[in-house]
Amino acid sequence: VSHDPGVQVRELFPGSGGTTVGELTGSLNLVANARPDRPYTVVNFVASADGRAVFHGRSGGLSDAGDRAMFHGLRERVDAVFAGTATMRTERYGRLVRDPERRSRRAAAGLAPDPLAAVITRSGDVPTDIPLFADPDSRIVVFTPTELDLDGIPAQVDVVRLDRGELTLTTMLRRLRADYDVRALLCEGGPTVFGTMLRERLVDELFLTLSPRLTGGGMGPAITSGAELPELEELELEWAYERDGALYLRYALPVNVR
Ligand SMILES: NC(=O)c1ccc[n+]([C@@H]2O[C@H](COP(=O)([O-])OP(=O)(O)OC[C@H]3O[C@@H](n4cnc5c(N)ncnc54)[C@H](OP(=O)(O)O)[C@@H]3O)[C@@H](O)[C@H]2O)c1
Repeated sequence: VSHDPGVQVRELFPGSGGTTVGELTGSLNLVANARPDRPYTVVNFVASADGRAVFHGRSGGLSDAGDRAMFHGLRERVDAVFAGTATMRTERYGRLVRDPERRSRRAAAGLAPDPLAAVITRSGDVPTDIPLFADPDSRIVVFTPTELDLDGIPAQVDVVRLDRGELTLTTMLRRLRADYDVRALLCEGGPTVFGTMLRERLVDELFLTLSPRLTGGGMGPAITSGAELPELEELELEWAYERDGALYLRYALPVNVR
């Protein structure tokens, strides 16, 4: 074990130079990284400085203007957005890209104006009462082992029935790639979904906002939950920006890059 005081570190803050979140996300060409077997997959989370993904049951209190700009900027750059049913329910998901300017920018970049929303359930308990399902412009695909009652649902919903044994995130991503031409996928959590995606080796990048706040404890999960990985996952830092004490970090998971 080395205690070498000569270990080199680099100052990032207060560094010089700056940009806008729109410039950052606008420079991403995620769809170009599509794999033949599944979409290029990026995950986005905000965490407190004590590592939690929720405060008082929701992520909103941890977020800030920079995080929100990143969140919406990432939605602008992908073919589909995926979130767990618990996240969709708690955060009351609505139309994924509400701003017409963002939809125009998507179209100009060769994407559909509205990204596809991907939903997966084992229980069949899909939150069809959230605004997303009430929006006639939204396209949603639900992977489920059960029959779904979609009577009177205004959104355009596809149901993909899968046997319980086949109902994995790996299958879902394969089907999104093969049947829905999804080249880049944004996963917005929650922790159950992110943990499962890591165990199934489906994640290419993590966009993490580190919020300069402490929750102090409680039962809120970290950004991952479920079983530990057999080995620590190594990340490569791709960018680091700061605003009002919040850090906006972008990491690659080199293990999953072919
Ligand atoms: N800090 C952040 O950035 C952030 C981001 C997202 C969410 N959150 C917070 O996280 C909490 C929700 O996260 P969560 O971990 O409880 O739940 P979650 O990951 O949002 O959703 C879990 C649900 O997804 C479905 N699911 C997951 N894996 C599946 C699989 N392999 N096959 C079939 N279905 C699968 C299951 O639905 P069924 O039960 O329908 O079978 C499961 O109950 C909320 O409090 C939310 O605010 C925070």
